[in-house]
Formats: sequence, C-alpha cells, structure tokens
Amino acid sequence: MQTITLTRPDDWHLHVRTGAVLKTVLPYTARQFARAIIMPNLKPPVTTVAQACQYREEIRQAVPEGMDFAPLMTLYLTAATTEAELKLAAETDVVHAVKLYPAGATTNSDAGVGNIQQIYPLLAALERHDLPLLIHGEVTDADCDIFDRERVFIDRYLTAIVAEFPALRIVLEHVTTSEAVQFVESASANVAATLTPQHLLFNRNALLAGGIRPHHYCLPILKREQHRAALVAAATSGNPKFFLGTDSAPHLTPLKETACGCAGCFSAPAALELYAEAFARADALDKLEGFASFYGADFYRLPRNTGTVTLAQSPWTVAPVVGEDGVAITPLQAGELLNWKLL
Ligand code: DOR
Ligand code: ZN
Repeated sequence: MQTITLTRPDDWHLHVRTGAVLKTVLPYTARQFARAIIMPNLKPPVTTVAQACQYREEIRQAVPEGMDFAPLMTLYLTAATTEAELKLAAETDVVHAVKLYPAGATTNSDAGVGNIQQIYPLLAALERHDLPLLIHGEVTDADCDIFDRERVFIDRYLTAIVAEFPALRIVLEHVTTSEAVQFVESASANVAATLTPQHLLFNRNALLAGGIRPHHYCLPILKREQHRAALVAAATSGNPKFFLGTDSAPHLTPLKETACGCAGCFSAPAALELYAEAFARADALDKLEGFASFYGADFYRLPRNTGTVTLAQSPWTVAPVVGEDGVAITPLQAGELLNWKLL
C-alpha cells in the first residue's frame, strides 16, 4: 500500500460556527490539523478581542479528549472597528489576523465593509502593528456577473490596497481565478493566497452536473476549467505564497437543499484527503507537505508543527451526512469514493 507521511498540517481558513454545529464539525478538523485560522463571521460577528477570547474558549471545549488542536482567532473588520482594538489584537497572542468582508459578499457579511476607502486608516493600523489582513476578494455590485466578481475586486480594490500598504501582510482567501493567481505571484512576499479543495477539484460544470448541486455551491463560486487548472498549477508549484485553507463552511443540510441554498462546502470530514486527490491527479504529491504544513505557518510567522500524519492509498467512501440530534450536515463529496485516506 502506497503511503505518504507529512508534517502535521494546519488549516489557514476555517468556519466552525457555534453550539451544536461546532461540536459536530470540530472533531473532523482536529483529527487532521494542528491549528486553524477561525473565521469570525458569526451572528453577531467577532469584532473584539474579548469576543475572540470567548469564542476560542467555546472552540477549545469542543475539542475531543486526547486530541490537541489550537484555534487561531481572527477579528471581523467593520466600519466601527477602532485602531485601539487592532492594537490590542496585535498585543495578545489570541488574534492572528483580521478579516475583511465586503458588505453583502457572502454568508454573514452584512456587517462587513461598505466603503473600502473609508477603512484605510484601519489598514494603516494593521500595517503598523504587523497584523495580517485576510480578504474575501469579491465585489458585491448586483450588476457585476458573479463569475467576474473576484477579478473586478482585484482591479478595483486590491491593487490599490497593496500599493498603498506595501508592508501589510495580506492573504487573498480562497482564490478561484487565474487572474488572482497571477496577481499574487507578481506581488511582494507580503501577499499570499489560500486555496480550497473544491476549487482545485471542480470547475463550474460541477454546479450543474445532471441537475443542480447545492453542495458544490460556495463563494467565490466555482469557475471555468482554465481557472481550476491555474489554481492546481499554483498549489503544486512549490511557491510558498500558496497554502492550504479549506474554507470548510458547514450549513445544515436543509439550508443547502432548498429553493435558496446557503453558500459553503463542508469539506472538513475529508479535507486532507481531498487535497491529496488533487495533488495526486497533478502527479505532485511531493509538493503537498509544503502547501499543507509549511508555507502557511511561515507566512503567519508561527513555528511549523512537529508531529506527522500519514495518508494511504486506500479507497474509502465519504459519509452521506454527519451529525446527530437534529444536526445533519452533508459533507463535500458525500457518498463518493476517495483514493487517499488519513490513517
Ligand atoms: O461559501 C462560503 N461560505 N463562502 C464564504 O465566504 C463564507 C462561507 C460561510 O461562512 O458559509
Ligand atoms: Zn470562508
């Protein structure tokens, strides 16, 4: 049986929610990843260091006995965020980054930023305090085609932000286009990107394969094949600007399988295996460890992990649904056969 052993990886972009959903989903992440950057788009959003501490405690309580897992918290940037709060965030070791959601771009982004220029003083504070900015890079204009929103965001906002704040460390989250890859590649070492398993494995045909596929719907939406190919090339290039961030985003199954389904792919139950699949198809399994275990830690200036995980080429079937007592969440690739299995 072919196996591959990696330094224990981290997930640099993760949604775990709260309450019963948190308890359901967290063990899947903790069994694979040592740490994860936790997204702050709760209702209400995590906007203060005090809230981040409280949320971190709730997450820690959900880690099963005997597993070690460290949640790395983020703050949700709003027009009302203060420079003092960002300074406080930089001084604690709880908050590792701040997330910019353009208002209305995605799930629980209503409290996000409407006018990006207006928050430039906050971006200056992040640059000064050396706290990374994580960006959901999509414009929100209703008249901008949904497949163009990332590209337009880069042209309209990101280019200017990077020029204005050259020392600010920026992660363009869940990149989905060749334009985003090119932008990140040609920017300074302070600009990096995360890549999700779904954007490496699927193109937009997967949304409408024989019928509408709500579990392939996330934001930014899947793009054309040429973009997927560019993402795989970036992920498997060995360029440290590109690293693992699942964007695993659980929603209850009935809220996905409905007339107006929520955006988000729940990839946590098979996350590392899905990446292994994508890297194996590109004949680049030797590049998986850097992508999954080294480059993110280096970017966030955290020590690399010391333990290991082993994947074996051993086919298994993803659960059709996970959860109990009224919680039912359908994983990405539910019921499908995967070739690599975490031992
Ligand atoms: O598909 C998505 N789901 N994209 C996001 O940016 C947010 C996420 C969520 O929180 O469900
Ligand atoms: Zn996300």
